[in-house]
Amino acid sequence: MYSRIAGTGSYLPERVLSNADLEKTLDTNDEWIRTRTGIERRHIAAPGQTTVDLAEQAARRAIEAAGVSPSEIDFIAFGTTTPDLVFPNCGVLLQARLGVRGCPALAIETACTGFIYALSIADKFVRSGEAKCALVVGAETLSRITDYADRSTAILFGDGAGAVILRPSSEAGLLSTHLHADGEYRDLLYSRGGVSRGFVDPETGKPDIAIRMAGNEVFKIAVTKLGAAVDEALAANSLEKSAIDWLIPHQANIRIIQAMARRLDMPMERVILTIQEHGNTSAASVPMALDVGVRDGRIKRGDTLLLEAFGGGFTWGSALVRY
Ligand code: UT7
Repeated sequence: MYSRIAGTGSYLPERVLSNADLEKTLDTNDEWIRTRTGIERRHIAAPGQTTVDLAEQAARRAIEAAGVSPSEIDFIAFGTTTPDLVFPNCGVLLQARLGVRGCPALAIETACTGFIYALSIADKFVRSGEAKCALVVGAETLSRITDYADRSTAILFGDGAGAVILRPSSEAGLLSTHLHADGEYRDLLYSRGGVSRGFVDPETGKPDIAIRMAGNEVFKIAVTKLGAAVDEALAANSLEKSAIDWLIPHQANIRIIQAMARRLDMPMERVILTIQEHGNTSAASVPMALDVGVRDGRIKRGDTLLLEAFGGGFTWGSALVRY
């Protein structure tokens, strides 16, 4: 028994923040941002628009694409680092929006790897027969924890949501998932505020929940860990690099994505690239890129997809998928 992606959906908030907009308030420029990151614009949630608001739109599109009704959903796994509330978790909030009652609904807080973790967990529930129609979401409002006075991070992040429906199938679907984490790297990429630690910086006495990142160090470790994850996924499935039809990477930096494509001997034409339009949307980036590739017709049934992500923690992982 496999789990198979029956439908995909995504949603971007309307407001666009371009590199030119950022030039007006920060000591930065479009050329630097484009060449160092690949980002041209990102979407920002409206005031009051929450992570679950974005997720609901993406989920409804995935449900429609899968041809199921919300009442069939019997498992919800929701990857996010920017939840609406401390609790109930975003999975439960989304469940209520969709009018689903009684099934398990959980949120997974593994930063940019949130969707891959959620997918891996849902896959196990579907393959074991415990779930027959799983909704898997990655959604973020990173703009809420971005310090727009810090040029090293303000240029990177955006908001959005992506979702898939997983159903059981006797035909190959998800071939493997591999998950990793290493808290030794916790100080290289993190948000300073938290419920238990407090939202006020003890040193300055000021509220502080913003993302902090040692970008260059994160970059180098991301390339190494993702490279190993790509090799691991291929080896576990006894597949050659040439077997991968599409790379669907976490969209953090175009240079990291290019390094992964080179490792797979893939031309960039075989990579679903959304970073220029979306920026880094953390847990939302992989399911949004997947949905873009499916809806514009590039990704076809039977194609072999390699999904990968890397984020704060560090956490990282892959999913090898027969679409
Ligand atoms: O999603 C989770 C995982 N995240 C990632 O994988 C992100 C990994 N890191 C990165 O993508 C890159 O490290 C960044 C895009 C964040 C930064 O690029 P970089 O090539 O590593 O730049 P850098 O931090 O080494 O900085 C190079 C220079 C510095 O100036 P000096 O010291 O050489 O004079 C920075 O001050 O670029 C400067 N700089 C900027 N200049 C213009 C940093 N940010 C900016 C900016 N505009 N926005």
